[in-house]
Amino acid sequence: MSETLAHISDLHLGRDAAADAAAEALRDALLAADVEAVLLTGDVTHRGRRAELATFERLFAPLAARLVVVPGNHDRLGDDAGAALMAGPRVQASRRGGLWVVRVDSTSHHNRSLLASHGTLDADDLAALDAALAAAPPRTLAVVMLHHHLLPLPEESLGEHLASLLGWPHADAVAGGGEVVDALRGRCDLVLHGHRHRAAEVAISARAGRALRVLNAGATSELGRARLVTHEAGRVVAERWLTFAAGRRAAPAAPARARAAA
Ligand SMILES: [Fe+2]
Ligand SMILES: [Fe+2]
Repeated sequence: MSETLAHISDLHLGRDAAADAAAEALRDALLAADVEAVLLTGDVTHRGRRAELATFERLFAPLAARLVVVPGNHDRLGDDAGAALMAGPRVQASRRGGLWVVRVDSTSHHNRSLLASHGTLDADDLAALDAALAAAPPRTLAVVMLHHHLLPLPEESLGEHLASLLGWPHADAVAGGGEVVDALRGRCDLVLHGHRHRAAEVAISARAGRALRVLNAGATSELGRARLVTHEAGRVVAERWLTFAAGRRAAPAAPARARAAA
């Protein structure tokens, strides 16, 4: 019996009316597609505000039983909506039908600053991730989800480029992320993340006959599309894009340093 997951990210609810309207259109498209799981890889809110979290909970209430969420750096701002989005340990694994989902919180205290948007994983996180994957039941699709990118991806704005020139880690991948991906080879099937607002996909060389793909959803509500992955007995059997009315970012009024954060 096959099941389908949707990967969505970076809704940035509360950023402007367009973002909220696009999230509502996304919600409707997900309900129509009748997917079994919706994996949301952070930056659910734009400023981590309680009101933005309430908007998310209201909009996505019909999908609540199917949602799996990790926090993003934007969720750590304001009222720290991220604490509610993922309470408890920084690494949590659970079985959801044919999925073995490992949630990893890649945010940290430094994300209280908009200018320090990068992610981090420490030794305890990596040990917990290792243990979580070791517990994966057979014939499940093992999925690691986190907000930040483990592999380098291009800068997306002048602000990010300037930050990199100044030596700030703002647009950097998680330190040691390449080694983490290498350690995941042969042990899981998908790494799902967001943070970078342009979608990306990296295929990693297989180990023990098991392929690994690292998928960046990008900012789903801006892109107007979400990836659907259909799987059965631990194998991906089909993929397609779910499209909906995108919410284009409003004309920038914020200073460059605010636009720099992904
Ligand atoms: Fe982010
Ligand atoms: Fe974002």
